[in-house]
Amino acid sequence: MKKKIYFVYISLSGNTQSFVQRLTTFLQFQSNLEIEQVHVKDLVKQNLPFYEVDAPFVSFLPTYLEAGNGIDNGDVEIITMPLSEFIAYGDNASKCLGIVGSGNRNFNNQYCLTAKQYAQRFGFPVLDNFELRGMQNDIERVGRKIMELME
Ligand SMILES: Cc1cc2nc3c(=O)[nH]c(=O)nc-3n(C[C@H](O)[C@H](O)[C@H](O)COP(=O)(O)O)c2cc1C
Repeated sequence: MKKKIYFVYISLSGNTQSFVQRLTTFLQFQSNLEIEQVHVKDLVKQNLPFYEVDAPFVSFLPTYLEAGNGIDNGDVEIITMPLSEFIAYGDNASKCLGIVGSGNRNFNNQYCLTAKQYAQRFGFPVLDNFELRGMQNDIERVGRKIMELME
């Protein structure tokens, strides 16, 4: 029997969406997981209500922060808040296995900072991170971690 898992993500310029799609394809070949993608931006755009997921999920979150240094300023999240609202909806947070952050290393201390903030706020782990669209080795590493979590 296939085990169901959701990938809950938000993507503004398409990088995270590309990663989630390639990861889904990888896991469809390599695992027995049935993956359902939830792009929170689409729910918001189509005015669809948030809902409680009926299986575990992994979140994928790019970093969009106000300019700063990520230490004493520059940790204010912009644009991606709907993902946190979906996670906070009903009992969803308790089903989150962890979060995969994405970003750009040029942002130094702000690199993937929002994923770390979500992990602290909701009490789930940061599973991994990747830059921009992610490379094939990122896909395989994250994919293997998810397979282990679902064993
Ligand atoms: C306005 C803006 C702010 C950003 N701030 C950060 C940041 O603080 N830290 C970081 O690691 N990446 C930052 N990035 C880079 C994005 O997280 C990165 O491009 C990511 O791949 C975008 O994902 P998406 O295409 O799925 O929306 C920023 C990008 C933009 C456009």
